[in-house]
Amino acid sequence: MKKLITVLLVAALVLGLTACGSKDSTASAKSAASGKLIKVGFAQCKADESDWRKANTKSVQEALSEANGFKLIMADSNNDAAKQASDVQSFIDQGVDYIIIAAVNKDGWDTVLKNAQAAKIPVVLMDRTISADPSLYNCWIGGGFYKEGVKATDWIAKRFTADQKVNIVNLQGQLGASAQVGRSKALDDGIAKNSNWKLLARQTGNWDTKTSKEVMASWIQQYGDQINCVYAENDNMADGAIQALTEAGKKVGGKDGIAIISFDANKAYLQQCMEGKINVDVECNPLLGQGVASIIKKLQSGGKVDKENSVEESAFYYDTITQKVIDARPY
Ligand code: AHR
Repeated sequence: MKKLITVLLVAALVLGLTACGSKDSTASAKSAASGKLIKVGFAQCKADESDWRKANTKSVQEALSEANGFKLIMADSNNDAAKQASDVQSFIDQGVDYIIIAAVNKDGWDTVLKNAQAAKIPVVLMDRTISADPSLYNCWIGGGFYKEGVKATDWIAKRFTADQKVNIVNLQGQLGASAQVGRSKALDDGIAKNSNWKLLARQTGNWDTKTSKEVMASWIQQYGDQINCVYAENDNMADGAIQALTEAGKKVGGKDGIAIISFDANKAYLQQCMEGKINVDVECNPLLGQGVASIIKKLQSGGKVDKENSVEESAFYYDTITQKVIDARPY
């Protein structure tokens, strides 16, 4: 009898240990095992901040639908970096399976990403990059902001001859966003390489048209006809600058107007490119939802994903773009 009790006790002990050792406590493992929807927390900067961001938000919502096996919870930080970090913390507290972040600011992520790691919740960065140690997130998918800026400065170098003064005003994105940092750095490097280029002024237009129109109007007052190049770090800001310049009676774009550089290549602004108002519009691809969905599905099935996943991007020019190209654009 004693022997039987001992055997039963040992068996129970072994079963208990085995169960702990093999139980994968990650939420994703539970949801995979249960066949339930994959629960994903999506920390978006500000869903309706720009045409680009609206297209990006729509792309994620469409790709991470229930029909595709996801339960998507989106938090909108209203472009407030502190709120976005607390949005991510609340996803951790809810025990989501994965977290997607389109980071308002590239800094300030270490603490909350360490909390996500401790909770075994994989983090996928989308669009924006961050300065945190790469070991704190699973991977990134997006465009190349610095490379986009180089496409723009390459065009400026072709537009103006070496003996022409290029007096540039720079409408920056929200300060600290990796898109602003990359595009501004490319402009700084272009200015350093070209002694005839001069930065007259730079200020954030906060990605939006109204702010940018006000900033541009003040620069027109201050610098007048010195300005011959506007480097706007997204389409909405370029639009604000064009409105202010046009209302001040300035000639913009085309062969001999004030050169207008923009980023994003949203359809509405490619129309302005074809009308000659925007000289060059460098694409930043917002359609990242499918890429994020396939990354998560691969992780869910135990697969490996690349740390960096860059998407194809091109640039459009006022003297070569066609209506056919614009009509074929997906956003
Ligand atoms: O991160 C991409 C940038 O974010 C886009 O260029 C801009 O429109 C958006 O705010």
